[in-house]
Amino acid sequence: MSNDTPSRSNPPAAGKRKLFIKTYGCQMNVYDSQRMADVLAPQGFTTTDTPDDADMVILNTCHIREKAAEKVFSDLGRLRPLKDDAQTKGGDVMIAVAGCVAQAEGAEITARAPYVDIVLGPQTYHRLPELVARASRARAQSNGREKISVIDTEFPAEPKFDFLPPPRAEGPTAFLSVQEGCDKFCTYCVVPYTRGAEFSRPVADVLREARGLVSAGVREITLLGQNVNAYHGDAEGHITWGLGRLIRALAEIDGLARIRYTTSHPSDMDNDLIAAHGDVPQLMPMLHLPVQSGADRILHEMNRNHTADDYRRVIERLRRHRTDLALSSDFIVGFPGETDAEFAETMNLVREITFAQSYSFKYSKRPGTPAAAMKKQIPDDVSSARLTELQDLLDQQLREFNAASLGRTMDVLLTNPGRLPGQLGGRSPYLQAVHVNAPASLLGHVVPVRITTQESYSLGAELCDAKAD
Ligand code: 5AD
Ligand code: SF4
Repeated sequence: MSNDTPSRSNPPAAGKRKLFIKTYGCQMNVYDSQRMADVLAPQGFTTTDTPDDADMVILNTCHIREKAAEKVFSDLGRLRPLKDDAQTKGGDVMIAVAGCVAQAEGAEITARAPYVDIVLGPQTYHRLPELVARASRARAQSNGREKISVIDTEFPAEPKFDFLPPPRAEGPTAFLSVQEGCDKFCTYCVVPYTRGAEFSRPVADVLREARGLVSAGVREITLLGQNVNAYHGDAEGHITWGLGRLIRALAEIDGLARIRYTTSHPSDMDNDLIAAHGDVPQLMPMLHLPVQSGADRILHEMNRNHTADDYRRVIERLRRHRTDLALSSDFIVGFPGETDAEFAETMNLVREITFAQSYSFKYSKRPGTPAAAMKKQIPDDVSSARLTELQDLLDQQLREFNAASLGRTMDVLLTNPGRLPGQLGGRSPYLQAVHVNAPASLLGHVVPVRITTQESYSLGAELCDAKAD
């Protein structure tokens, strides 16, 4: 691991400059945004939760669906007056576009929004201090002439993780990115193009980062990757470890109460990982395993490399190892050529498996992906009707899952102050939001509670007599 951490040797006084980061999209982007703040902290940047008083604004963007990508340009439009206003007063607000839209669109962003100072992809944010310095120089040299923006959308040979400072823990839960990129090339998806080829961090790096987080008070770690269960990290002795083995090693860290991982591909659920769900108590009984569709022809057209029955079999095996396993999934409706009968197969699969929670989307045509060129794109009104029907069913399953928790005793990790005084909020093993009357001293503890009430999307509970951990 390199110690080439940016500018750590001579940091300017902390708090000199304010940084606002807006995060779009997935949990990987949430992790990346925190790491960007970590990288810029030694440069004197502290984060603020409004762009209004910021010296620098980073939009950490998502390209997965058209709506998310377009939102970036409308948000940029709103930032422009802030920059103009600051410049009128002799100052400036530096604007950076990071993440997957930056990777996909590159110079197109500065063509549409010339006031953007920096465009950087998801693999180069360890270079932010250098990019900020270059953008400042470009600004100083422009002297009123056309400004030159700094663009860095390279896929460097050296992984960014080697250059990042140790992450700071913020509260009892943390994300830990262990794998990135994707080689699956589902025909609708931009990820293999924006995040690049699959890459797994070495085991020693992951364990070091996890130990650091736990010693800073973290009780629950969610391992992240675009295909996290394809993890194959280099370990000692010239071997690679799969995700199951990594989870078993993490479970040995004293004080780490809970482990989760997301997001996974059904064909990468190997025997060891499935078995880990049965024999690692710290591994929470909630799995996000996207199926996308219940129709084999559509799965084939999507290049998913599994059938609906393959998915059913994986779930059966998982449930044999962990009978109380709850599931969540992603679904796409209105994929090109999807018939009513094929959509009905998705509905049937959902009725059969039952999901505790899910994400469902209308297919969004993404430039450059094979599905964008497929014939029989589905009219929006048809996709919308299917989405409503699917979401009604998924919502009903979510409420039934929550209702089944009433009267049960379960462990809750208390993570934040509750909505009312004297309350704390937390998460059940199944990721349900739970609020409970409890003293603030229990923040960061796993406590047994009895579920007493159900609201639309959360649960109310009372502390049990048993002790917190
Ligand atoms: N259109 C709609 N949904 C998509 N997803 C990925 N690409 C698209 C697209 N082009 C969804 C998939 C994936 C989730 C992260 O986003 O369901 O699992
Ligand atoms: Fe996209 Fe498919 Fe890779 Fe998931 S597995 S990131 S949906 S290409």
